[in-house]
Amino acid sequence: MAQAHTHTQAHGHAHGHAHGPGTEFDWAALAELLELEGETHSPYVRQAIGELADLPGLNPRRILDIGSGPGVAACSLAAAFPQAEVTAVDGTPELLARAAERAERLGVRLRTEQAEFPAGLAGLGSADLIWSGQAVHHVGDQQGALDQLAGLLAPGGVLAVVEGGLPLRSLPRDLGFGRPGLLERMDAAQAARFSRMRAELPGSVALVEDWPAMLRAAGLTEARSRTFLIDLPAPLAAGPRRWVRSMLERYREVLAGPPEDPQTSQSAPGLTAEDRATLDRLLDPADPAGVDRRPDLFLLTAKTVHFARRAAD
Ligand SMILES: C[S@@+](CC[C@H](N)C(=O)[O-])C[C@H]1O[C@@H](n2cnc3c(N)ncnc32)[C@H](O)[C@@H]1O
Repeated sequence: MAQAHTHTQAHGHAHGHAHGPGTEFDWAALAELLELEGETHSPYVRQAIGELADLPGLNPRRILDIGSGPGVAACSLAAAFPQAEVTAVDGTPELLARAAERAERLGVRLRTEQAEFPAGLAGLGSADLIWSGQAVHHVGDQQGALDQLAGLLAPGGVLAVVEGGLPLRSLPRDLGFGRPGLLERMDAAQAARFSRMRAELPGSVALVEDWPAMLRAAGLTEARSRTFLIDLPAPLAAGPRRWVRSMLERYREVLAGPPEDPQTSQSAPGLTAEDRATLDRLLDPADPAGVDRRPDLFLLTAKTVHFARRAAD
């Protein structure tokens, strides 16, 4: 996900923003990272889609992917439900263009629609299946966003929201250089960064992030969560390896911020000079202990999908 803060409450994904006042990140610049991330994590999306396909009485004719980014999940949905009209919805036109290119390349039917959340959610029209991967937490009022999405569901329709899971693990605790535990310290810095991102969103509302309870509060039934493990053991293939590199580059950039925010006098999350030097070594293409070349690089993470259904009339 990158602002690229990786979400620790399981933010294992690139983040960025070019949306609305007070936001600080450039989603379009993250296009390649997001697509690589989507491809690396795609097994969990396919598993979740498999569960959706098995739901009794769900034969979707219209599907929305809210916050689709470059459309990796949207294209998987289009492949799994070829009879449905699938629309990738996002605020970033550059990402929607990628989604359209991807659909063409894969030979699946996909529409794209630009919409800014939360205002643009209202005009999307009703759907039998709504998927939203790691996008709702970018809306200040998360319950309000879920209420709106639930309101778009046709009777018997299903909402699937990806939020939470586990942080990324990709390297041994002791790298053989630097202070052991670098990834855990990066998680802590990212968690602080994520909290700040949420607090600074327009209309930010703090709430207990109990997603099934939030889905029930949105009027939906049958709320349940399923967590999917993504377990790619060493040695890592080229694509996932490139994604880990891109994520570490993002961390290096966003966690190297100023030590103090002049407006709040609060410490900004950041890494020590020693940890930044360790990251530099990990990112050195010529270094055999760097992520491009070390044989022990792996990828272990988990994504949680929260499902709920609108009662049939
Ligand atoms: C972390 S990415 C998720 C991409 C993809 N769904 C996935 O799971 O990998 C979040 C996406 O939400 C979009 N987004 C974030 N805030 C938004 C807003 N306020 N309005 C519209 N789109 C937004 C971004 O452009 C980005 O594509």
